[in-house]
Amino acid sequence: MRFDHRHLLGIDPLRPDEIVTLLDLADRYVALGRQREKHATSLAGLTQVNMFFENSTRTQASFELAGKRLGADVMSMSMQASSIKKGETLIDTAMTLNAMHPDLLVVRHPQSGAVDLLAQKVRCAVINAGDGRHEHPTQALLDALTIRRAKGRLHRLTVAICGDIAHSRVARSNILLLHRMENRVRLVAPPTLLPAGIDGFGVEVTHDMREGLKDADVVMMLRLQKERMDGGFIPSEREYYHRYGLDAEKLAHAKEDAIVMHPGPMNRGVEIDGTLADDINRSVIQEQVEMGVAVRMAAMDLLARNLRARPTEVIT
Ligand code: NCD
Repeated sequence: MRFDHRHLLGIDPLRPDEIVTLLDLADRYVALGRQREKHATSLAGLTQVNMFFENSTRTQASFELAGKRLGADVMSMSMQASSIKKGETLIDTAMTLNAMHPDLLVVRHPQSGAVDLLAQKVRCAVINAGDGRHEHPTQALLDALTIRRAKGRLHRLTVAICGDIAHSRVARSNILLLHRMENRVRLVAPPTLLPAGIDGFGVEVTHDMREGLKDADVVMMLRLQKERMDGGFIPSEREYYHRYGLDAEKLAHAKEDAIVMHPGPMNRGVEIDGTLADDINRSVIQEQVEMGVAVRMAAMDLLARNLRARPTEVIT
């Protein structure tokens, strides 16, 4: 089993075989999570610190549960975004952390690149739980596991990623992963919600939902990231729903067995019809949450194996 990384900061450094290794291990943790006794000992004796500089419900809970199921000492620190002043403060935080000797650090931060910076300053393994608009690797991995289990494979699929792509780290990590595993990726968004330089991503782009969803195996919806917008990106939510909101009529253009995904939290009636989101025959949104715990267990397990393989740093 090879996974030669000290940190998990993004999808970009991962090779296809490493992605497969992680997903195979996650499959085993899905099975464990469905048993009454859910404990393993892969992180026994290790300390995991979760630092969320941005609000989070499911990601933070998922990392906490993953660490506890693997026997780590888990501590969650909720950091107020308003108290960060970039640079110095983040480095001060790293110093404080080093003094506590954590083994695994899970970080979410509103600024792209902040987690990479922190990783350079701390002695432990770092997992990026979402940095600004940059990357959210465990989300893309849990989406990949959900797709692989629903479709039986993770290659040569047509995946439509729809909505607010410009502000989405979820989209970015998913594009990288799906492209690397040789899938056809289509982005569907109004011109205002597409990132600059999209041509280099190796994706197809359309502004029309019906065209974008045509024969898709997977329809991945994204939340309108209003907190990252400074106004003027969409005419109105009603108009947006009319053109880009996923409903049964638009979904009919995708393959008959296409699955519907959403990373959550959802704005029902803005990017997705509520009834469709709850339709267990089409929507795998609940499965995504379950896969999230298993993928985070697998990621922390693999990083911990690498940690244990290194000699302990003795600080004098
Ligand atoms: C995403 C995030 O925070 O990037 N949510 C999540 O991790 N479950 C997507 C979002 O906030 O829309």
